[in-house]
Amino acid sequence: MNDRVFTSSLYERVRRVIPKAEWMSFEDDVNSILELKRRRNAVILAHNYQTPEIFHGVADIVGDSLALARKAIEVEADVIVLAGVHFMAETAKLLNPEKTVLIPDMGAGCSLADSITPQDVALLREAHPGVPIITYVNTSAAVKAASDICCTSGNAKQVVESLGVPRVLMIPDEYLARNVARETNVEVLAWHGHCEVHELFNAADVRQLRENYPGVTVLAHPECPPDVVAEADFAGSTAVMSDFVGQQQPARVVLLTECSMSDNIAVHHPNVEFIRPCNLCPHMKRITLANIRTALEENCHEVTIDAAVAAPARRAVERMLAV
Ligand code: 13P
Ligand code: SF4
Repeated sequence: MNDRVFTSSLYERVRRVIPKAEWMSFEDDVNSILELKRRRNAVILAHNYQTPEIFHGVADIVGDSLALARKAIEVEADVIVLAGVHFMAETAKLLNPEKTVLIPDMGAGCSLADSITPQDVALLREAHPGVPIITYVNTSAAVKAASDICCTSGNAKQVVESLGVPRVLMIPDEYLARNVARETNVEVLAWHGHCEVHELFNAADVRQLRENYPGVTVLAHPECPPDVVAEADFAGSTAVMSDFVGQQQPARVVLLTECSMSDNIAVHHPNVEFIRPCNLCPHMKRITLANIRTALEENCHEVTIDAAVAAPARRAVERMLAV
């Protein structure tokens, strides 16, 4: 099948969330990226917050942070393009040291990753001797290297409980730590990092939504403040929210998270009404079809990690994957 015919069949997938005229402006980049992937033996891993033309148009593997880390181990291509933020590309590189890992925009960061340094972690260790340090994957490789084990929002509770200790430090997301603390008997000490996207939701928003949209099912990401999660019907990682919609098929749903999530899921669930108050992640939105194409054409923005950092950081990620 020629690529142009193929891209119009791709459009059938996304026609409910991308107007035809907009899709036509994407077609040239989509065709070129499909061809470049073949030529360079490359795969594109895309996070659930990527826009639908990336998520449904060119990605080979999609998911939450945990799924991307797990699937990164199985990748057989020579080149991985990470359509997501920098810490995700670093995780892919940690698990694929021999492969070329590209991120289309080096500036795609994360407010949580920026909230803590390895020096901060060393000071925490000194202040809490013997307390294991669990690091959210939304951190730099250097911070992972200074910690004992990683977690994602999809496995945080399991990781806490796997350690068999009465007290843990969970860094850097204060809200994730407090949300997990409500679900376990383990004492969870927190750092003061926040996600700049999820911290904007508040409990009054949830009440207003219920008033304006009777019967709406409210799903929240665990990076939201604890009072938001307490008022929601269900909280979970981006993949867990997506599975919830797939399995429960709520008549009306709102996802308190990044905007592209609803678009990407809506494609699969025509009978679910998505209410869409959402917040954009400016870092995720730095990734576009155009810069994915450039990364593949010019082999630019390669992610590398110093060997002295990579070994202990990989250990922390692999320890998480073993849980
Ligand atoms: P997930 O692991 O749930 O996909 O979350 C990643 C993220 O950056 C949420 O803001
Ligand atoms: Fe980081 Fe928040 Fe953006 Fe996720 S949504 S990448 S946690 S800033």
